[in-house]
Amino acid sequence: MPTTQTASAHPNIALAKYWGKRDVGLNLPAMSSLSVTLDDFRTRTSVTWDAERDEVAIDGNRAGDAAAKRVFAFLDLVDPKRPPCAVVSESNFPASAGLASSSSAFAALALAATRASGRKRSLEELSVLARQGSGSACRSLHGGFVLWRRGEKDDGTDSHALPVAPADWWPLRVLVAVVDAGPKPVGSTDGMLRTAQTSPSYGVFVRDSETCVQEVRAAILARDFERLIAATERSTKGMITTMLGARPEIRYQRPASMDLVEVVASLRRTGILAGWTMDAGPNVKVLVQPGDAAVVAARLREIVPRVHDLGVGGPALVEGQAGPEAS
Ligand code: PMV
Repeated sequence: MPTTQTASAHPNIALAKYWGKRDVGLNLPAMSSLSVTLDDFRTRTSVTWDAERDEVAIDGNRAGDAAAKRVFAFLDLVDPKRPPCAVVSESNFPASAGLASSSSAFAALALAATRASGRKRSLEELSVLARQGSGSACRSLHGGFVLWRRGEKDDGTDSHALPVAPADWWPLRVLVAVVDAGPKPVGSTDGMLRTAQTSPSYGVFVRDSETCVQEVRAAILARDFERLIAATERSTKGMITTMLGARPEIRYQRPASMDLVEVVASLRRTGILAGWTMDAGPNVKVLVQPGDAAVVAARLREIVPRVHDLGVGGPALVEGQAGPEAS
């Protein structure tokens, strides 16, 4: 009998960055990281277990070969002897929103597939599973502010997300300024490997990461915004520096990215607190306190027309159920 289950998850943005793997196959990170889950944007995924055939549809279209292969390999992790499965995934934010959608996609898929297969998994086990689809996805099972522990074990069972504070702990805004929404020139796995192998400052970045995580965590728990943006920028600059040091260099920033960073710096000189971060792309995410969101967004829009104003979001959910824990 086919069983269908549907789950949804929000994307997240790292405030203390993950850039480097200690195990590529298992997606084990070389450092801990800490993120904020976003609201409004979400991926909703249905999995039919025991379907007529294996198939994947993403945003209304049949998935391309590479994407479908990645989804089927992931379903094999749920059950190596699985029956055919049909996956239908829709995101309410355009791929062109300038946000990596893999975090919400694999978190929703992990939850829906586990439920559809009739399995029970703890939130930690779901996070370990999601991590193997896309590292950052392990953080999207939780809402609010989320730590992804590096872990020590070779099998990765201790490398999963842990909640730091729920969504309503601190109503920050994240302004996503879209410089270019096209595909990235270097994928994150290739980029991380190249950085680890060739960048002289990689070790420095890895060593500093634990301090950044501790700083971001302490700032969140104390609701200390200045401390938060200082630690987020420190982690981001460390990541960008070590990417630039790779051979050949990995440079995702564009002139407009740096113009946006300049806007943030100049706002700060006038007393408006804002902090910036970037990921494996040219888009700039700006952290602000709620009262400053409108004025900062207007200034960012002088550089790029598309700026999304997002809040802090909740955990991944199975439809018809209060939370993922009971999966
Ligand atoms: O998990 P991936 O492959 O999407 O890599 C995420 C890497 C960064 O977004 C740059 C940083 C992070 O911690 O999310």
